[in-house]
Amino acid sequence: MVRYSKLAFRQTVYEYGTDLCWTPMILAKEFNRNRFARDSDFTVSTNRPQPPTIVQFGANVPLELARASSLVAPFSNGVDLNCGCPQSWACAETLGAALMEKRELVRDMVIETRDHLRRDGWAVGKEKDMDNPKGRSVSIKIRVHKDLRKTMDFITTVLGPEHDRHIDFLTIHPRTRSTPSSTPINVEALEVLTSTFGDKVPILVSGDVFTLNSLPFTSPLLLSRPQQSQTPLMQIPKLAGLMSARAILANPALYTGHDACPWSAVDTFMNKVARAPLPFKLVLHHLSEMCAPGMGPNKNALLSKPERAAMLACANMVDLIDFLDEKRAAATTQQSTPGINDGIIPPTGIRRDIQTSSRLLP
Ligand SMILES: Cc1cc2nc3c(=O)[nH]c(=O)nc-3n(C[C@H](O)[C@H](O)[C@H](O)COP(=O)(O)O)c2cc1C
Repeated sequence: MVRYSKLAFRQTVYEYGTDLCWTPMILAKEFNRNRFARDSDFTVSTNRPQPPTIVQFGANVPLELARASSLVAPFSNGVDLNCGCPQSWACAETLGAALMEKRELVRDMVIETRDHLRRDGWAVGKEKDMDNPKGRSVSIKIRVHKDLRKTMDFITTVLGPEHDRHIDFLTIHPRTRSTPSSTPINVEALEVLTSTFGDKVPILVSGDVFTLNSLPFTSPLLLSRPQQSQTPLMQIPKLAGLMSARAILANPALYTGHDACPWSAVDTFMNKVARAPLPFKLVLHHLSEMCAPGMGPNKNALLSKPERAAMLACANMVDLIDFLDEKRAAATTQQSTPGINDGIIPPTGIRRDIQTSSRLLP
C-alpha cells in the first residue's frame, strides 16, 4: 500500500495471498475535477478476478471525499482516507497527517461519504454487508500522536456511536508524524489502542510487517508461525490484519510466507505489466526493489548490486525482458536444491509467459 501500488502490482500481490489491495493516495479534489487525473490515477482490470481493492484518497472536504468515493464505488470494494501522510506538501494543504489534528473534520468526511454511498444504492452496513455484492467499506489510516490520549480522543470521535460506528475498519501506523521509518513501530501504543478499541472496530497495523515470522509482536493471526526474535514479544490479541508497504514492494510474495522475493513473483509482475502497462521507469523501480535484499532477516537477493545496475541500464522493455530471462535461467541452472528462489508458479521464463498471455489481449 504505497504510491507504487498500481494495478499490475496489486494483481501481483493478490496472486501471492494478499487479501486486500490499496491504491496509492489519490487527491479527491483533482480526481473529481479532472478526467486525466481519473484516467491516470485509477485503473481496474476487465479480467476477473479483480483484486479486492480499496481506493485511498487524500481529502479535507467532506463533499470532495464523498463525490470521489461515489465515482470509484462501482469499480472498487471500499474507500480509505489517508490521515497518515507526513509529507510537508500534504500537511501544508491540511491533508494526510495534518488531519490527525482535525478529528471532527475526519468524522464529518466519513459520515458524508457513507451517506453519499448509501444514497447511491451501495450497501454500507459494515459486517452486515460483507458478503453483499453491493457492500462498500469506508475506512481511515492514521498515525499516532506523541500523547496517546489525543489518539484515543481522535478514534473515539471518528468511530461515533457503538451501535452504528462511522467506519468499517481502522489502520494504525504506530509512529508519530515526525518518527522516522527507521525507528521501530511503537508496539506499546499499538497494544493500548487495540485493547481499547479492538472490540469496537477491526484494526489493522501498518509498519514493520517485513516477513510473517519476524513481526515485532505476536498475534493470534499468526499463532502457527514461529517467531524469530530472541526477546519476548508483546502480545497484540485484538488485531484484525496486517498491512505491509516497504517489505511487500521488495517481496510481493510476503503473505504466502516467502521470506525473500522468489523469481516467480518477478515473472508474475512482468506478466501483469504486459496486460496493465506501467511507465518503464516505474517497472524498473519495482524490479530494482524486488531483486535487491528485502526488509526481513533473509538478505538474499535475486540480483547482485552490479547486476541491478546493469538492469537499470536497460533502455526498453525488450532489453529488460531479455536481461531478466538470462539472469533467471542462470539462477535456475545454479539451483540444484529448493530454496528461496523456488517459484509457487512453475518456472516458465518471462518472454514465453508474456507471449502466451498477449494472445489474451483484446
Ligand atoms: C514509498 C512509499 C509510499 C507510500 N505511500 C503511501 C500512500 O500513498 N498512502 C499511505 O497511507 N501510506 C503510504 N506510505 C506509508 C506506508 O503505507 C506505511 O504506513 C509505512 O511505510 C510503514 O509501513 P512499512 O514499514 O510496511 O513500510 C508510503 C510509504 C512508502 C515507503
